[in-house]
Formats: sequence, structure tokens, C-alpha cells
Amino acid sequence: MTRLKWGMIGGGEGSQIGPAHRLGAGLDGEFEFSAGALDHRPDAGRDYGQRLGLDETRAYGDWREMLEGERTRDDRIDLVTVATPNATHYEITKAFLEAGFHVLCEKPMTMTIEQGEDIVRTARATGKICAVNYGYTGYSLVRHMKAMVARGDLGKIRLVKAEFAHGHHADAADADNPRVRWRYDPSQAGVSAQFADCGIHALHMASFVTGQEVEKLSADIVSCISSRELEDDAMVNFRMDGGAVGRLWTSSIAIGRQHGLTLQVFGESGGLRWAQEQPNQLYWMPLGGRLQVIERGEVNLSPEADRTSRVTIGHAEGMPLAFANIYKDLAEAIRAGKEGRAMDTAANLYPRAEDGLRSMAAVFAVAESGKADGIWVDARPPMFR
Ligand SMILES: NC(=O)c1ccc[n+]([C@@H]2O[C@H](COP(=O)([O-])OP(=O)(O)OC[C@H]3O[C@@H](n4cnc5c(N)ncnc54)[C@H](O)[C@@H]3O)[C@@H](O)[C@H]2O)c1
Repeated sequence: MTRLKWGMIGGGEGSQIGPAHRLGAGLDGEFEFSAGALDHRPDAGRDYGQRLGLDETRAYGDWREMLEGERTRDDRIDLVTVATPNATHYEITKAFLEAGFHVLCEKPMTMTIEQGEDIVRTARATGKICAVNYGYTGYSLVRHMKAMVARGDLGKIRLVKAEFAHGHHADAADADNPRVRWRYDPSQAGVSAQFADCGIHALHMASFVTGQEVEKLSADIVSCISSRELEDDAMVNFRMDGGAVGRLWTSSIAIGRQHGLTLQVFGESGGLRWAQEQPNQLYWMPLGGRLQVIERGEVNLSPEADRTSRVTIGHAEGMPLAFANIYKDLAEAIRAGKEGRAMDTAANLYPRAEDGLRSMAAVFAVAESGKADGIWVDARPPMFR
């Protein structure tokens, strides 16, 4: 089997998310790391690319050079990951889609709803895959939660409670730290800080697991560190199109919380609870039954969970393995396209441009509602109303 060719933009040396992508893309041997424009400093990007094993002709200095270099090659990349800072995602993703490449874009996909709609239209017009890296949906037990909800184990979903609360920006002395300050500056971060950075992961996961989309929301946003223009804490109530009530808390000042991504789903006939920091355990209680711990990797889980469980039961499963499941889905989608066949439905779960757009609409709805004392606002993108 020929390996697919994979490229990366951003994710340079010392970046936060670059290594997780390289580990995830490389895990199954499906993708060969073939090209990159890894750093905003051209020389540093070329040098690091070559140290990671790229051919010197494909360790590019910037993404435009990479686009030109790759588009004319017979062995051009099959997929490019965009892992640059947020404000660059739209321009790079659009350019690569239009040049006929499949794209996996980091979140948030764009900075505005209009840009998000444009990416959805571009992906549809070009017929190229535009995935968005809500990578935590790749965890095996998150896939299992979705499968349990879909097959009716919980009955009708009444309530979903999502959190993504950490404490890594809790030090007021960081107000002048350049690595933190930009995140709360509207000129660089956009209309939202904490919700756009972390809240959208939790909100997307609520939709992913329940199979329902957010219709409207009401937000209470605050800057607990008062010098910040954008929020460092948000409580969001929402309603979903299948009737579920949603509650979401996101924070960056919750000292003692580390990553803090959790999801609880309560239906008429059972409840589920999962926390990303203990991803191997899913707590399940059927109505009138006993609380049970479902272990990742145990027998008789769903096909979706089996397909995405990567290490033997009892061993820790981490974020790069969850990312690897997104790459595994994408490899199947790309191969199915090349071979002109339908893709494996269990793999057809990777987050898409439509999800990135919905997140952007929610970000703007949170900002609008938060400024207006929590009025309920429509959270759907205009093109989906
Ligand atoms: N899905 C997730 O769980 C997750 C987690 C963390 C970060 N992210 C997202 O990933 C993106 C990157 O975040 P990070 O924390 O790794 O940032 P970072 O600042 O640690 O690294 C960014 C990298 O991109 C490079 N870069 C910047 N501009 C570039 C350009 N124009 N061309 C090529 N390279 C360029 C930088 O040199 C650096 O290597 C952000 O959009 C962020 O929201 C997603």
C-alpha cells in the first residue's frame, strides 16, 4: 500500500501542538511526512524541517512557497495540516483547498463567521476534505459515548454538561507576559479569548456526542483579571436542536485545574460521565441500575470504540493517540476518494468545516450575549438557519 503524503504548516520547533500532529499522523504508517513550512522564520522552518527528515527541496520557508512547490509535483502531498496561529488559518486553508489539496485545519478554523462560511463553500465547491482538529473527539471512549447515545442506551437526551476549565492564566502578574497578553487583546484574538480557545472544544464535543447542534445560547462572560479586555471565564447555557438543554463552563483562571475537559450526558434512561484527564474510564449508570466503569479497550464495546482504541487495556491513552484517530479517519476518507468507493462509516466521524463554522457562530453569539447581560441569541451560522 502506498503511503499518503502529508505536509504541515506551523508546528515548528518548540510549538505546542506540532509534536502531537506529527505523532498522530505518523502512528499508523498511513502518512509519510513529506513537506512543511513549519515556522514563521523561514530559515528556522527549513532547518527544523530537514532535522525532522524532510528533503531539503520540501522543507519550505513559508506556506506560499510550499503551495507553489507542491502543486506542480507528481508526488504532491495528499493532506496538509494548518497549525499556525489562529488569524492565519483562513487564508492558508482557503488557498490550499483552491489548489486542490485536502486540509486539516487547527481550531478555531477562522476569525469570523463570514470567513467560516467561505471555507465551507470553498470545500464544497472544490470537493476537497476540510477537516477541523477537534482532536479530543478522537478518544476511543468519546466515540463510544457517541455510539451509546446513537443506539439509544440513554433514551432521549435531556441535559449535556461540558467543561473546559484550566488555571494556566490565573496569575495577574502575567498581564504583561507577551505569550499570554495577546490572547486577551481583541486586536489579535478577535471577539473572544477563553471561549474561542477552549470553550469551542467542549461545545463541539457536546454536539459530537449527542448528535445535536446548538440553536441558541445565553452567556455570562467575565474578565476575572480586570486588565483583560476579553473574557477569562464564561458560563454558557444553550439549547440544542434535538431538545437537549446544555450547560458549559470554560475558564483560564481556575487554579488547580490542569486541562479540565469533561463531558456529562444525561438522558431519560441513563447518564454518562467522561473526563479527558482520565480518558480510559467512562462512567455509566442506567436508570435504576448500578454505576459502572467502562474501561477503554475492554470487550464488547462499540465498533467505533474498538477501531480507535490503540493501546492495551490499562495503559494510558493520550492526546496524540486521539489525534491519530482523526488522521486514521482522514486516511480512510482520502483513500476511499482515490479508489472511488464509499468510506467506512465508522471512520466518517472526523470534524468538518461545517463544525468549524458552527463554532465560529457560537463564539460570536457568546460575545454578543455576554455584552448584553446574557440575552438569548441565535447561535446558528446564517447559512444554516
Ligand atoms: N486542537 C487542539 O487541541 C489544540 C491545542 C493547542 C493549540 N491548538 C491550535 O493550534 C494552533 C497553533 O497553536 P500552538 O499552541 O501550537 O502555537 P505556538 O505559538 O506554540 O506555535 C505556532 C507555530 O506556528 C509557526 N508559525 C507562525 N506563523 C506561521 C506562518 N505564517 N507560517 C508557518 N509557520 C508559522 C510558529 O513559528 C510556531 O512554530 C492554534 O490555532 C491553536 O488554537 C489546538
